Amino acid sequence: MNRQSYSFIGGDSGDWRIDSVRPVTGTALACPPRLAIEHSQVAALPVGAAWLLRGVTSNQRYTSRAQQTKLAAVQPPLGRPEATCGALIPISKSDAWWSLAQDERERFFNAPPPAAPDHTAIGMHYLPAIARQLLHGRDLGEPFDFLTWFEFAPSDTPAFDELLARLRATEEWSYVEREVEIRVSRDEKRSTSP
Ligand code: HEM
Repeated sequence: MNRQSYSFIGGDSGDWRIDSVRPVTGTALACPPRLAIEHSQVAALPVGAAWLLRGVTSNQRYTSRAQQTKLAAVQPPLGRPEATCGALIPISKSDAWWSLAQDERERFFNAPPPAAPDHTAIGMHYLPAIARQLLHGRDLGEPFDFLTWFEFAPSDTPAFDELLARLRATEEWSYVEREVEIRVSRDEKRSTSP
């Protein structure tokens, strides 16, 4: 597959207003006024910007064929005009996570019944309201292993909050050692999305 690079720049310009930056686990990031999203790997922090976070698309690691088919049928595209709320949530997992074997990590995304709902099953419940993009930073040597990006209509904010609470209560999240929740919004018009 083609890897697509993205750069998220917190600074004075960009289509998205930054409404809040909250450290969920570990150290925070600064809270500048705007977020710009570039569809490329920006080489260095632009003058005056507070932070630059980069990631790339990659192959799926833990999604079964059946899950892929179900997801493809319901997941909405990014850039919907009515999806004026967004969230950028950079995440890093612990050494204990990266020491697990593939099959041990996979069970958090694709757990056979009667196990508790896994990450994919929980997330699926919130589709098609929430559009998402997963980017990887670990192999780039970036400060965060993952950049996760979400878009939704203002009326779906309570559902997004519930989704976050459910995921953070899972065993998978005990391996999250840094997480920052950056909430953004924009006016209703087409804008840059990953
Ligand atoms: C909107 C509903 C969601 C769905 C349907 C969903 C689904 C998925 C799936 C299927 C994967 C596995 C990708 C693979 O096979 O490699 C995944 C990975 C991931 N998701 Fe979600 N997700 C959702 C929401 C979220 C949220 C709200 C967060 C953050 C708070 C999040 C964070 C992540 C991260 C960090 C990974 C990568 C985990 C790893 O590789 O260790 N997801 N998601």
